Amino acid sequence: MGVTILAIESSCDDTSAAVVRDGYILSNLIAGQDIHKSYGGVVPELASRAHQANIVPVVDQALKKAGVGVDDIDAVAFTQGPGLLGSLLVGISFAKGFALTRNIPLIEVNHLHAHIMAHFILEKDKESRVPAFPFLCLLVSGGHTQLIVMQSHLEMELIGNTIDDAAGEAFDKCGKLMDFPYPAGPLIDNFASEGNKKAFTFSIPKVKGLDFSFSGLKTSFLYFLRDRLKEDPEFITKNKADLCASLQGTIVSILISKLVKASQQTGIMEVGVAGGVSANSGLRNGLAREGARRGWNLFLPSLEYTTDNAAMIGITGYYKYLRGEFSSQKVTPRARV
Ligand code: KG4
Ligand code: ZN
Repeated sequence: MGVTILAIESSCDDTSAAVVRDGYILSNLIAGQDIHKSYGGVVPELASRAHQANIVPVVDQALKKAGVGVDDIDAVAFTQGPGLLGSLLVGISFAKGFALTRNIPLIEVNHLHAHIMAHFILEKDKESRVPAFPFLCLLVSGGHTQLIVMQSHLEMELIGNTIDDAAGEAFDKCGKLMDFPYPAGPLIDNFASEGNKKAFTFSIPKVKGLDFSFSGLKTSFLYFLRDRLKEDPEFITKNKADLCASLQGTIVSILISKLVKASQQTGIMEVGVAGGVSANSGLRNGLAREGARRGWNLFLPSLEYTTDNAAMIGITGYYKYLRGEFSSQKVTPRARV
């Protein structure tokens, strides 16, 4: 019958459950939380409450969609962190309860590791192309911007990191300055497609080695808007597409130039991108161009596995299951890892 894993992801504002059998995704359900939109960011207390309300129906639907019963589950994988503590607690408590009553193993999963492991998800009736090792991956999410080398499914080495904000934060914070609701990344992506990325220029930070910095860009964007709004209070409305295209173009060029440097330094040609910001069309197009020019074997995750989802937790849990890497009932969430 193979190995069937129930996976739970609840690190931020999406409650997700998935069922994975032998590396194949049988179901992947996500309940988002619109409640945060009007607050300009995720409100932790509201997120935990929504997870509490969503988790049982989401798991129930994931099992039904996969066509499996609780008796068919061999292990429960859950996100241990990083993430919001109250949100993580809901997922971990559910996973512990499920594992205890079914007397099956519990598997803790690092959320960042899981974003990269999304590249190893297999889908029935779809051609599966998975990276070989070593695999160089740019991980870009709302909380992280890292360059990671995977030596195997379970071994990863951090070779570059942001020294301040994450790329997703740069999108979201600059979007907030333009009065966009949270998360602004997807909206900026949409408006950017109609704009000219050379219309405005923003400062590109000089950071040594393979590290990143985005706080200077946010400040430069803030001062730029403040000056232009003084001259014309309608400046943002009139220039929305060009502002979004120029901002996105700057973020994308920072990301791609460091990824190119990392590939040159390590000699790794198996290259990919993961995390919420990897849904960005400017980044995907830019990487496709750069990858073709440099002869990379490039991996762009399918859109449904870019933002937070339990399928990526399930695939990571599957490989940990094969190695017998289980957690005890004493396991606790880790807000920071
Ligand atoms: O990985 P993720 O779902 O959650 C974290 O682990 O942080 O990433 C969320 C981030 C948010 O900052 C959101 O604005 C960004 O991903 N994002 C995008 C796009 N879709 C999501 N940023 C730019 N363009 C997009 N299309
Ligand atoms: Zn994430």
